[in-house]
Amino acid sequence: MKLCVVGTGYVGLVAGTCFAESGNDVVCVDNVAAKIDALRRGEVPIYEPGLEELIRRNVAEGRLTFSTDLAEAVTKSRVCFIAVGTPEREDGSADLAAVLSVARGIAEVMDGHRVVVTKSTVPVGTHAKIRAAMAPVTRHPFDVVSNPEFLKEGAAVEDFLKPDRVVIGAESPEAFKIMHELYEPFVRTGAPILEMDNASAEMTKYAANALLATRISFMNEVANLCERVGADVEFVRRGVGYDRRIGHHFLFPGVGYGGSCFPKDVQAIMHTAQANGLEFPLLAGVEAVNDAQKRRLVEKVVDEFGPDLRGKRFAVWGLAFKPRTDDMREAPAIVVIEGLLARGAEIAVHDPVALNAAKRVFGDRVSYHRVNYDALPGADALLIVTEWNEFRRPDFDRMKQLMRRPCIFDGRNIYEPDIMREHGFTYVPIGRTTVRV
Ligand SMILES: NC(=O)c1ccc[n+]([C@@H]2O[C@H](COP(=O)([O-])OP(=O)(O)OC[C@H]3O[C@@H](n4cnc5c(N)ncnc54)[C@H](O)[C@@H]3O)[C@@H](O)[C@H]2O)c1
Repeated sequence: MKLCVVGTGYVGLVAGTCFAESGNDVVCVDNVAAKIDALRRGEVPIYEPGLEELIRRNVAEGRLTFSTDLAEAVTKSRVCFIAVGTPEREDGSADLAAVLSVARGIAEVMDGHRVVVTKSTVPVGTHAKIRAAMAPVTRHPFDVVSNPEFLKEGAAVEDFLKPDRVVIGAESPEAFKIMHELYEPFVRTGAPILEMDNASAEMTKYAANALLATRISFMNEVANLCERVGADVEFVRRGVGYDRRIGHHFLFPGVGYGGSCFPKDVQAIMHTAQANGLEFPLLAGVEAVNDAQKRRLVEKVVDEFGPDLRGKRFAVWGLAFKPRTDDMREAPAIVVIEGLLARGAEIAVHDPVALNAAKRVFGDRVSYHRVNYDALPGADALLIVTEWNEFRRPDFDRMKQLMRRPCIFDGRNIYEPDIMREHGFTYVPIGRTTVRV
């Protein structure tokens, strides 16, 4: 099938590449010329495991191309995906300007029937707005399909190639049929393609993200209570997670959720609720807990070192909002580092892939280190903010020699208190007893 994907970010680039990988001819379109030029030179603007190799292969085999020319891409394509950003507006609602402008742009140039598929996360009712934006500018028929994306950054290619389920909201049997054809190669192991109306498909995405965010905030509250009552949240987490009605996913306490989706999607669903006369107080709580949790690590540092951190040096391992991505959007590390800087601390940071993205956030206010140990010399403490696998088994003796004080604030509970005690570290985890040497 010939298709175009408009918006070449984490979702669009992955979706376009994976559709090409299953044999379709795909044009990935973006209005940022520098991005398209880079992709044409073979440079991948984002870090996502496995993506570069897939892009290279599909470009070499002629199935995947990049363009800034929406008109040409639409003319060549039967199906047009919209995967542009839907950022949060001041009032918490999702900004649909880019989605609607692309929809209008498609309508202006299409020369026959098109299936227009929304992959961006959009509030309930957006399918009708897309239809209303397109109808006045074209005499050709079109289908509007709502096909929310559930991939996780850091495992986006894997998730796209092997989804848990595919959600398709549409009105006509033809649209469902075309979407089935596109997705069948990815669901051969039995994952369902769920057909529904557009509004339910749009709602499904927000409900899923809001529920995941709720689990995280719930467990962070439990962790904070564990600290007060002398329980260990890691025991509690396992004890709860083995209940098959609950499961283990998204029960890890930490420094709060971040990223480009959860914070804005929680806001957007609350906004939709309020616009429809419903408060959704549960999610207001989820958000308040998360905001407070992002500040927990700095509070713990202040408990240990006092409020004035001038003359103190801290190393931070892990900057992006989660491992295996370079995405710094709404990353808890920003709140942590800004909190320390505001108290006069000196900061040395390391992240396996997010240093360039971090430079755009912190400029020259922190020092950057490609090797994790290089951030440690003279540090009064190390803060773990993202749980990269390579942080899990470091050389503790070497760390101790490099640091001014053997002290770790573990925002992701990646170490065991007993082992830290053996190695002679002061160890401050989340929801577990602090170890003091
Ligand atoms: N990132 C995720 O993990 C994820 C997962 C599921 C769903 N989503 C949703 O998918 C959508 C895209 O997210 P993302 O993370 O890929 O965003 P992104 O910011 O990484 O990418 C968006 C891209 O769209 C381009 N763009 C914006 N306006 C354009 C226009 N008018 N014409 C052409 N290109 C345009 C931008 O230049 C950018 O390259 C959002 O609605 C998001 O909520 C994201």
